Amino acid sequence: SSADPVTVHFINRDGERLTTTAKEGESLLEVVVNQNLAIDGFGACEGTLACSTCHLIFEKDVFQKLDAISDEEMDMLDLAYGLTETSRLGCQVRIKKLMDGLTVQVPVEVSDIRSQLEAGKQS
Ligand code: FES
Repeated sequence: SSADPVTVHFINRDGERLTTTAKEGESLLEVVVNQNLAIDGFGACEGTLACSTCHLIFEKDVFQKLDAISDEEMDMLDLAYGLTETSRLGCQVRIKKLMDGLTVQVPVEVSDIRSQLEAGKQS
């Protein structure tokens, strides 16, 4: 039925896979918040299109089936680090049944610099 949960995998900044279930109509930001996924710095503006910390990288086949991108999302996405051809903002993408089994990659950019600094400190 339409209430069936949709399984979504997030590959976190450190490469760890977080598997969760989502409801149709939820945004990917809402999934992260509602399921308490520990993704560092994700969704800083709470979905108001004022940051780009909810940047996610999609698999090509799913990316092509997503709803069209708005000008506002495009403008904010342009500011994201590590932009790819299959990047979208997670707060603007809503869960659909066709996404069942979806894997999205969280870009490494935010914690990348810090982990490099930490690695430098330790050596
Ligand atoms: Fe800030 Fe998506 S949470 S733009």
